[in-house]
Amino acid sequence: MSQLAIEITGLQKKFGQQRVLEGIDLAVPKGKIFALLGPNGAGKTTLINILSTLLAPDAGSAYIAGFDIVNNKEEVKRSISLTGQFAAVDEMLTAEENLLMIGRLSGLTRLESRSRAIELIEHFDLKDVARKRVRMYSGGMRRRLDLAVSLVVRKPIMFLDEPTTGLDTRSRRALWDIILDLEKEGVTIFLTTQYLEEADQLADTIAVISNGRIVAHGTPEEMKSRIGGEMVEIRSNDDEVIHEISTSGSIHEIKQILEKMSSRVPEDSRINIRRPSLDDVFLALTTSNKEKNDDVFN
Ligand SMILES: Nc1ncnc2c1ncn2[C@@H]1O[C@H](COP(=O)(O)OP(=O)(O)OP(=O)(O)O)[C@@H](O)[C@H]1O
Ligand SMILES: [Mg+2]
Repeated sequence: MSQLAIEITGLQKKFGQQRVLEGIDLAVPKGKIFALLGPNGAGKTTLINILSTLLAPDAGSAYIAGFDIVNNKEEVKRSISLTGQFAAVDEMLTAEENLLMIGRLSGLTRLESRSRAIELIEHFDLKDVARKRVRMYSGGMRRRLDLAVSLVVRKPIMFLDEPTTGLDTRSRRALWDIILDLEKEGVTIFLTTQYLEEADQLADTIAVISNGRIVAHGTPEEMKSRIGGEMVEIRSNDDEVIHEISTSGSIHEIKQILEKMSSRVPEDSRINIRRPSLDDVFLALTTSNKEKNDDVFN
């Protein structure tokens, strides 16, 4: 038995003349959280749609729980749950009704559906609104219900397309806890996000997708050490970052930076030296070195 929950080789997809995925290779081990990070239009939803058999690839292959996404669609569908980028719940029904309906559609008995619904309503903190129509819900309540719906029947592999986009900090953290609990139960999670912090907090492995290609792949720590060294931050008197410069951290280099900068920042500016964050990695991957140096030294 393969230890990989998801195995993708050379996956390609075009829409008309537009090449949206240009040869994706990825592997996600069983029971791990994988985060696909990328800006708008990078191809994240397209990849999730292909992996969940909603869309056919043009070339390449992918195996989900050992099943071929093209030739074993039914087995793939039985192994996964998908929480799409846009809510798929019925707005005219209540949370309770949505959960009951999905339970019945998935083959649970009336009794099983009911006890599962009660359990999920409790777990996702939806008790107060469980009997209100979803149409009246806030974005955070909807997102929690989306996730609850995808958990009515527990599947070994979950796809979450931007699970926390648009949520406030508190709701986002609540969802992170739920996702981490699922990992503890052995569920494999493939999520997409535009938030570097989210990938950093949750994922065992991260891949950055840009224009349909994987431009970096590794653990959050590997990604951060990739750009190495330290970041010099120059902050204004009211603590706003005016400049950020990546350096090896040597005294010589920092002295050079300070000499260059001292004439062009306010006198009461202050400096701070810190380890690089995933944001720095992301910028480093999507900006050429020349641009960065031009920005600092000109
Ligand atoms: N059905 C479609 N027909 C034509 N073009 C499409 C279709 N679906 C997606 N695209 C295009 O493919 C590219 C990738 O879209 P995709 O939705 O996969 O990006 P994404 O990374 O999920 O972006 P976002 O962060 O905005 O959700 C975009 O340029 C988009 O316009
Ligand atoms: Mg998307």
